[in-house]
Amino acid sequence: WHSGWYSEDGQAVFLRQDVGDPHKVVLVRPEDMEAGSLLTVYPFREADRADKDRLSAVFNRGDTPAVLIRLRAGQQVTPKPGQENDNVGEYYAFSKLCTHLGCPVGLFEQQTDRLLCPCHQSQFDILQSATPIFGPAARPLPQLPIAVDDNGFFVAKGDFRQPVGPEFWEMGWR
Ligand code: FES
Repeated sequence: WHSGWYSEDGQAVFLRQDVGDPHKVVLVRPEDMEAGSLLTVYPFREADRADKDRLSAVFNRGDTPAVLIRLRAGQQVTPKPGQENDNVGEYYAFSKLCTHLGCPVGLFEQQTDRLLCPCHQSQFDILQSATPIFGPAARPLPQLPIAVDDNGFFVAKGDFRQPVGPEFWEMGWR
């Protein structure tokens, strides 16, 4: 599986909102999100914008989607043991690919702060660093380290901390 969230040439990797149109580039700023909401995002570099064919391919080349979540005021994620969060205030990003069989986890249940997978009903507790608390998934969703650049847009600080998706994908990761 291909990640796409790393930069070999030092270019910034922006969080690009999935708006359903492969030619429309919508980058994300903190003020674009309501508290308790979620956006699906893909990696985007300025070089992608210069080439329309390449821009279409961004959606088709299999980059790993991520979910960008804005928690409600006063909430925070408890980091995994031995790790620190790489968040921006109440904003956190995780892989969107379920660690059971790789379905997209899309539904954010704001009342419980859980992400739900529609395929086999796994539930991930975002406040516990996306640890699975129900269903067949056994591994947390990997966190994507994020920051805000000088112009106020979200960027990835690096790749996911762990391989994304089910463990049997790890052989082909990236
Ligand atoms: Fe998500 Fe099975 S793929 S629970």
